[in-house]
Amino acid sequence: MDPPKHDRIKALFQRAFTPKAIAQHEPAIREITDRVMKGLEGRETCDLVTEVAQPVVARVIGSFMGLDPEDDRPWAESINTLLGFGDPDLNPKGLEQLVAEDIPPMYEKCMKLVADRRANPTEDMLSVLVFAEIDGDSLTDDEIFAGFVLLMAAGNDSTKATYTSTMKVLMENPDQRRLLIDDPSLVPSAVEEALRMFPAFAHFRRTATRDTVLAGQQIKRGDKVALWYPSSNRDEDVYEDPHRFDVTRNPEHQAFGAGGRHFCLGTALARLELKILVEETVRRFPNMTLAGEPTWVLSQFSSQLKTLPVRLHG
Ligand code: HEM
Repeated sequence: MDPPKHDRIKALFQRAFTPKAIAQHEPAIREITDRVMKGLEGRETCDLVTEVAQPVVARVIGSFMGLDPEDDRPWAESINTLLGFGDPDLNPKGLEQLVAEDIPPMYEKCMKLVADRRANPTEDMLSVLVFAEIDGDSLTDDEIFAGFVLLMAAGNDSTKATYTSTMKVLMENPDQRRLLIDDPSLVPSAVEEALRMFPAFAHFRRTATRDTVLAGQQIKRGDKVALWYPSSNRDEDVYEDPHRFDVTRNPEHQAFGAGGRHFCLGTALARLELKILVEETVRRFPNMTLAGEPTWVLSQFSSQLKTLPVRLHG
C-alpha cells in the first residue's frame, strides 16, 4: 500500500507499538514465556521451534489481536502454511490449491471476528482495523483481512525465526553463550547480532519511481528492486569480520527493513519478545545442546528453521 492511505493506517497503529507502550507488555510476555517453559519441566529433549517459540509468539500476537488462546494453534498453522507455501511439509497441496482451499476459510473466520468487533468494540488491534477511518471511509473487508493477516504473519513468523536462529548460533558458539550467562545485560546486543546475521525475511521489494544509479547499477523507473537483507547485513565494508557471531557487537542492521515508511512496525515488540525468550532460555537451560539436525523451511522469502531439536540439559 502507498501513501497517503498507508501512512494514515500505519499512524493508527504506531502509538501502540512505541518502545514505551510495548514495555508495558513485559510482565504479560514474561508470564506467557514462563508458562511455556514450565511445561518443559522433567523433559530431556524438545523442539524449540514448535514447542517453545511457536506457542509464545502465537499467544503474544494473539493477545494483541484479541484472539482466544485456543485459536492460537489453528491460526499459527494457517499462517505457517501460507508463508511456507513452497515447502512441501508445510504446504503439501501446492500454491494454487492453497489459495483456493485455505484462504476462503481463513477469510470467513476473520470476518466472524470482524462482525464480533463491529457489534462489541474492543481495545485490540483488530478493532483498530475495523474502526479505522481514512478521510471518512472505513477499510473494506478485504483490506481488514489483509491487515489482519499481515499482523498475524509478522507477529508469528519473524520473531519465531529470529529466536530459534539465535538459540542455534548460541549452541554452536558456547564461548559466546558463556558471555551471556555471565552477563545477561548482553542479551539485547546478542539479539541485534542475531537479527543482523539471520534476518527472518530475506528480502522485500520496491518499484523504482524514477531513474537512478545505485552503487554503479542503473535502475530505471518501474524496475522492480529486491532488497537483500542477508547481503546488506554482512556487508564487508560495514562490518568487520561479518560472518563472525559476536554478542558484544550490538550492530545496526537492516533485518527490520532499510528505513523509510515501510520500516517494520513491530521492532519494539519483537525486541522485547526476543530479549525475554533468549534471557529465559539461557538462564534455565545454560547447557542446552543440539539433539539432531535442524531443518529449514524451504522458502525464498522466509529464512527460518522448521525444527530445532535440543537436549535441554546438555
Ligand atoms: C524479528 C522480528 C521481525 C522482523 C525481522 C521483521 C522484519 C520486517 C521487515 C523486513 C519488514 C519490511 C520493511 C520494509 O519493507 O521496508 C517488516 C514490516 C512490517 N512488520 Fe515486521 N518484523 C518483525 C516483527 C514484527 C512484529 C512482531 C510485528 C507486529 C505485530 C511486525 C509488524 C510489521 C508490519 C505491520 C510491517 C509493515 C510495515 C509497513 O509496510 O509500513 N513485525 N517487518
